[in-house]
Amino acid sequence: MQTFRTIKSLDQCLKGYRPAGLRVGFVPTMGFLHEGHRALIAESVARCDITVVSIFVNPTQFGPHEDLERYPRALERDHELCRTAGVSLIFVPNASEIYPPGFQTSVEPGPVAEPLCGAFRPGHFRGVITVVTKLFNIVQPDVAFFGQKDFQQCAVIRQLVRDLNLGVEIVTVPTVREPDGFALSSRNSYLSAADRERARCLSRGLFAAQAAFQAGERDSRTLVETARAQMMEVDCLQYLELRDAGTLEAIPGLVEQPAALCVAAYVGATRLIDNVLLTPPPAALSDHELELVSHAINRQATAGAEGPRSS
Ligand code: PAJ
Repeated sequence: MQTFRTIKSLDQCLKGYRPAGLRVGFVPTMGFLHEGHRALIAESVARCDITVVSIFVNPTQFGPHEDLERYPRALERDHELCRTAGVSLIFVPNASEIYPPGFQTSVEPGPVAEPLCGAFRPGHFRGVITVVTKLFNIVQPDVAFFGQKDFQQCAVIRQLVRDLNLGVEIVTVPTVREPDGFALSSRNSYLSAADRERARCLSRGLFAAQAAFQAGERDSRTLVETARAQMMEVDCLQYLELRDAGTLEAIPGLVEQPAALCVAAYVGATRLIDNVLLTPPPAALSDHELELVSHAINRQATAGAEGPRSS
């Protein structure tokens, strides 16, 4: 495993790999790595020939009163996790490498960045997609891996890649949780033991709504209230909303499309986010549709038995 601090040295190394046509996987992070990050790395190692991890606490995605200065850092431990996880290259730039003096261009997200975290963290997603665009241009990966834990971030990045033709495949990896359901996050290190205990109610609420959904409940208000009833222990519930899983548009009535129930809350001074997916099972087929499907299958089987046909 090699570590690079400059764009130039990383680029020189990657240039050596590219002619061989190796598939490059990329996992962007802000460090203080945990099992959630490890799951992203494992997915990349499984699917790609080389895996690049970046560790960069990106100042442009923090608001003026947010936790940029005290964001947890543990570079040595991060290296160890990367090494044991099979990472090929680590990119650890400093702020002036990414934002040199005179830097002035940003990528502006569209409406998908407006609700949820976007409403409470103005400019956050502009900072995220600006640095992700820069990192994509620096690493030029074939595939990049992001966690479902940051559900809106995934949606905004997919939109970015589509809108600007970035040509990077985006893979979303399911949220890794503690045994009691609490989602892993670098910011969990801020929580006292008592706050950590209270914070459990977030995932408990989300899972209660998911269970109600699986039992057939489709009314979005009832589903949100089912979750909210469990979340009384937090200090401030910033939002708890059911949204279309693709567009993030609000779902006012019945949930008939894949949806995400998303929450952000303060426990003490720590802001936590989490979400679960609510996915309706495929609609049951009518007898007529079943008949059409079985005819189609039979036709295919007969065609297969007869060997390939030219058309
Ligand atoms: P960071 O918070 O370090 O997260 C890096 C990646 O790890 C993100 O894709 C995030 O969704 C994923 N992740 C975090 N906790 C997870 C969990 N419990 N299970 C699964 N995946 C998890 O997200 C960022 O950094 C930054 O915004 C970044 C994309 C690096 C841009 O600066």
